[in-house]
Amino acid sequence: MILVTGGAGFIGANFVLDWLAANDEGIVNLDALTYAGNRANLASLDGDARHHFVHGDICDRALVDRLLAEHRPRAIVHFAAESHVDRSIHGPGDFMRTNVEGTFALLEAARTYWSALEGAEREGFRFLHVSTDEVYGSLGPKDPAFSETTAYAPNSPYSASKAASDHLVRAWHHTYGLPVLTTNCSNNYGPFQFPEKLIPLMIANAIDGRALPVYGDGLNVRDWLYVGDHCAAVRAVLARGRVGEVYNIGGWNEKPNREIVDTICALLDELRPDAAGPHTRLITFVKDRPGHDRRYAIDARKIERELGWRPAETFESGIRKTVTWYLEHLDWVRDVQSGAYRDWMARNYASRETHR
Ligand code: NAD
Ligand code: DAU
Repeated sequence: MILVTGGAGFIGANFVLDWLAANDEGIVNLDALTYAGNRANLASLDGDARHHFVHGDICDRALVDRLLAEHRPRAIVHFAAESHVDRSIHGPGDFMRTNVEGTFALLEAARTYWSALEGAEREGFRFLHVSTDEVYGSLGPKDPAFSETTAYAPNSPYSASKAASDHLVRAWHHTYGLPVLTTNCSNNYGPFQFPEKLIPLMIANAIDGRALPVYGDGLNVRDWLYVGDHCAAVRAVLARGRVGEVYNIGGWNEKPNREIVDTICALLDELRPDAAGPHTRLITFVKDRPGHDRRYAIDARKIERELGWRPAETFESGIRKTVTWYLEHLDWVRDVQSGAYRDWMARNYASRETHR
């Protein structure tokens, strides 16, 4: 049995589904079902006794203690977080609470639980903390990619909160010996991603014939990884990662945002031949994100060398699968575009007048 936090969100749900498709070990899935958590992502597991869903908060120490005592997991895989940079700019409080205080509560619960284990159970226990490349800050065009020894330089409230959580995890290992693993991954895309992030937002807006809002000059660069590849990397780190180590995970796939949006438009032109005109007609350049990091790139050689992991998808295969998935799951898209989603869209995009 393993305990997964945030397993109703985008990456967590993909992880839970992939895990249970590949093996019979059960999962306790603790998720607060914020706007980003969605039981529908896990609907295919209804009635599956291996999946035990718990609606609750990682900050609730008594609840986490009870789940650990009851289910005696051999590992905690910690995905739960507030994850959207723009939301962290509008309201950083939730990010400090869940990402910093929530990770602290979880670490303390894990430490108490692990300290009482004995023998092989104690030896084998792992706390795997899922984090982001954004903790390393922003790269210039010629800078080398982020490695595991790159100095931390977080620039947004989101990345600062994740950096803080990484430091807590490191300290709980160094000071208390808690057997931790940390992964820092680049931008994921794929099924079940909430349409506030670049790729699903562009797909959902284009399907509806709405503007495709590109921040600034559209030349900010991200490294893109298909979510199934991220999940496989997390499984490899959990199974074979060295305790106390950090593993960077990336797709070897740096692209400027404008190219991502053009690719999505071209795929939609092909897959929706009846749509009026090329989808690129919807592209609109809007006011930039404050403090917008220019470039992220990941050096993923350590995880390949030590654990034999490399991404299986190319960007071309992954983005085609993703666009196809959204077209085939329009009901899912409509469901998540609730009143609260519309409020967010109005708040984030109303203040970004078109600038060219
Ligand atoms: P997401 O926002 O889609 O999902 C987050 C999940 O956590 C949701 O199900 C939400 O309900 C749950 N949650 C939030 N606060 C909680 C709380 N207090 N208690 C319990 N559950 C809570 O996020 P995601 O994109 O799936 O990211 C998952 C993890 O991966 C995060 O830690 C994020 O920092 C990290 N990460 C994401 C990316 C990416 O590109 N999306 C890349 C690298 C790392
Ligand atoms: O790098 C990993 C990180 O990737 C994760 O830790 C975060 O959880 C995840 O949200 C993501 O952060 P980004 O800020 O890079 O992702 P986002 O999808 O918000 O934006 C990607 C790029 O696209 C970024 O340069 C901003 C730009 N963008 C985004 C949106 C939502 C636009 O141009 N227009 C938009 O409407």
